[in-house]
Amino acid sequence: MRLAYMSVYRYTHRNGRMASGQIREKEKKRYNSIVFVVWTSVPHRSANMSGADNQRLPLKEKFELMPETLGGQFRKDFPPYLDGLVKSFPHRYVTTPEFAKNAEDVYNLSPRPDDVYISTFPKCGTTWVQELVWMVVNDCDFEKGKKEQLSIRSPFLEMNYMLPTKLAEKFEKEAICRKANSPLVDKIMELLCYWNLMDWLRPFIRKAISLVLGDCLRDLEQIDQMAGPRIIKSHLPLYLLNPQVLNTSKVVYVARNPKDVIVSYYHYHRLLEFHHYTGNLEAFADYFMTDRVYSAPFFPHLLDAWNKRHHPNLHFVFYEDLKRDLRGEIVKISQFLGKKLSDDQLTKLTEHLRFDNFAKNETVNCEIGKEIGLMNNSGHFIRKGKTGDWKNHFSPELNERIDEWMRKNLEGTDLRFITELEQQD
Ligand code: A3P
Repeated sequence: MRLAYMSVYRYTHRNGRMASGQIREKEKKRYNSIVFVVWTSVPHRSANMSGADNQRLPLKEKFELMPETLGGQFRKDFPPYLDGLVKSFPHRYVTTPEFAKNAEDVYNLSPRPDDVYISTFPKCGTTWVQELVWMVVNDCDFEKGKKEQLSIRSPFLEMNYMLPTKLAEKFEKEAICRKANSPLVDKIMELLCYWNLMDWLRPFIRKAISLVLGDCLRDLEQIDQMAGPRIIKSHLPLYLLNPQVLNTSKVVYVARNPKDVIVSYYHYHRLLEFHHYTGNLEAFADYFMTDRVYSAPFFPHLLDAWNKRHHPNLHFVFYEDLKRDLRGEIVKISQFLGKKLSDDQLTKLTEHLRFDNFAKNETVNCEIGKEIGLMNNSGHFIRKGKTGDWKNHFSPELNERIDEWMRKNLEGTDLRFITELEQQD
């Protein structure tokens, strides 16, 4: 199966110099006949993340291409999604073909007792809580925190697989060219791509980028080897994480009301060049509600964690509660992590995490993404930080449709959201 995929990859890759319409048609025909099965038989890495090879856990979830994401309005609205999106079965998780290929490796990362996982659907306040947890675990060492990007201090588990290969290649090439600022380097990079040497050279290129820009990414192997305590961010639903995570490590799950998530995710899809969303908010809300965005579907992600909220190793926190009483929520998270902060530490950490300070903090605000071409200048990653911003964006008609969608999905559950706050910050 892996070989089959490799040949498809080579096929599309080598034909990258054909007219784009021609490629798309050929790719479409070919992809339509392929089921993306997560390779359970051939691990990507020689060193198994769980130890010996015979302990490797097979991932039961399988992935299939979503043919509707290869053409029509969807392709126009998300131009960089050259290979479309895939959906898993039986859980219907939407992701990239690149992640599907590596899902089992991620699943096999061994959890440790001193790990803390920050688990979220995107845009629920992940970065905010990552920094909070890192500070609590590291005894509020603000000086140490300043020295490295949060993405290094607290790595993003599946990040390396979120970019389609061709886009990753493009960003790597552009980052090097921009820094080198020399036509000769441009030419060399072009030739490397032409000869398909980028895959082979990727580790060296990443090293070079890190040397020039500073480290901003850890891959799965680096996460595996990282010294503890590790604070690992992941947008994966719990069933795609190693099944021992909850019994071994601590998990802080952050949830946010879906109306603000839709607005925040919309802006994020416009800001990030690897989404480069060109449609309007209303169309985006439809993509969101019909599970055609990365990490969808929204409700099962949250409900799975909500139903496990009484597990002693899981702490469930709402973004809205952090907005209402940041200090109080820091105390609760510290207790969950077995830490006690002094009054002085609590005061300083609360200030450190306040939106205005956070937005200025270069180790968390991701402005570095603009330097390497991952983000455009249409806005900021740490954007507005409010509960109820949806009221500035939704028409009454759209709001009604979202209410109905929420009602249907929450039926028979006791999960409820706060969508407006009288007082925040
Ligand atoms: P908005 O786009 O609504 O502003 P994630 O880290 O999961 O991607 O979540 C990003 C959202 O959290 C963004 O929401 C961002 O502004 C908000 N956020 C980040 N830091 C924050 C802070 N210190 N206070 C409040 N909101 C914050």
